[in-house]
Amino acid sequence: EEMEASRVEEVSNEYRNANKKAIRLSAAFVPLIRMAILCGFTATLLIGGKMTLDGEMAVGAYSVLVFMTQRLLWPLTRLGETFDLYQRAMASSNRILDLIETPVSLIDGDFDPKRKDVVQSSIKFEDCTFSYPGREVIFSGLNLEITPGSTVGVVGATGAGKTTLLRMMLRFCDPISGKVEWCGKGLEEWKLESLRSSIALVEQNVTLFPATIKENILYGKPNASDAEVEEAAKVAEISGFIDTLPEGWSTLIGEGGKRLSGGQRQRLAIARAIIKDAPLLILDEATSAVDNETEAALQRSIQKISNDRTTLIVAHRLSTIRNADEIIVLDNGKIVEKGTHDILLNHDGVYAKLWSVQTGSMT
Ligand SMILES: Nc1ncnc2c1ncn2[C@@H]1O[C@H](COP(=O)(O)OP(=O)(O)OP(=O)(O)O)[C@@H](O)[C@H]1O
Ligand SMILES: [Mg+2]
Repeated sequence: EEMEASRVEEVSNEYRNANKKAIRLSAAFVPLIRMAILCGFTATLLIGGKMTLDGEMAVGAYSVLVFMTQRLLWPLTRLGETFDLYQRAMASSNRILDLIETPVSLIDGDFDPKRKDVVQSSIKFEDCTFSYPGREVIFSGLNLEITPGSTVGVVGATGAGKTTLLRMMLRFCDPISGKVEWCGKGLEEWKLESLRSSIALVEQNVTLFPATIKENILYGKPNASDAEVEEAAKVAEISGFIDTLPEGWSTLIGEGGKRLSGGQRQRLAIARAIIKDAPLLILDEATSAVDNETEAALQRSIQKISNDRTTLIVAHRLSTIRNADEIIVLDNGKIVEKGTHDILLNHDGVYAKLWSVQTGSMT
């Protein structure tokens, strides 16, 4: 906690310094103006008073002068305040502009395939090598073909690169060598918008928005009808929960969905993926433990939605992918095992060992 606090402090300091400069200026400005006016006022009072007494100035002119200097005080102070606001706004807008101007290094292609072609074509990872900058290699010479309409399960130890594999599909990261092909074209040739709209993603740590339940589901397809939203929620098995809420569909879920449980968040994200109805569904199972009922609901939903589309599932609970058409086991940047659940169990390798640990049949 202390470390995190110091990290936040560091970032905040920069902003504070910019703000401090603005405050220092404005703090100096207002008293300076007041002082100047006070001096002017005193001078007018004394010199003008003497001149009036000496008969050099009319009493009327003198009173107008005194009155005028006082009138100056207010507009000049306002000017100082405006100046202060301007400085602060500049500090804030610089901060925002910095963020906007962060360069996007992704090169966008112009391949924009028709949905029916996407649905029918396979995804191929060819000889892919990948490592995050300055980190050790995650994949070396990875080859994988995902046939259209199939369900592929991915398992492997923590840090094996399962999430990274999914990220490559969405071009959140690109392979260093080798390529990922879909529809006969490398992903870098795709229009980014077409690529990402062809994929429905349920992340490991679900991203939800501080809006209502309905709005969060609609995010998958903004122009969906109420019936579609309800159907998606039903398949994701969250409609029962929504019905118990006093405010139902318009319940606000809070920042990042913190007013929902982990399992409810996941189901909401699945409803969103369902309504998006994309040719490829990618699901990165949450690592946190969920109860048996949630797990069973999750499996039923997956079963229903993976029926007529290509599905890629990273699973931590192997029972989730038990019925997958193919299961791949990642280890040390390579696919070490591949096959259906039954084949892999018979093979008696890494998967079989994981399975027996999870089902508790190992002593
Ligand atoms: N943005 C990043 N920058 C640098 N290294 C990263 C980044 N994201 C992940 N890594 C590293 O890459 C490796 C693979 O990470 P990845 O998230 O793909 O693992 P995973 O198989 O999904 O693990 P888990 O089962 O815990 O979800 C890890 O060693 C991780 O530390
Ligand atoms: Mg992961």
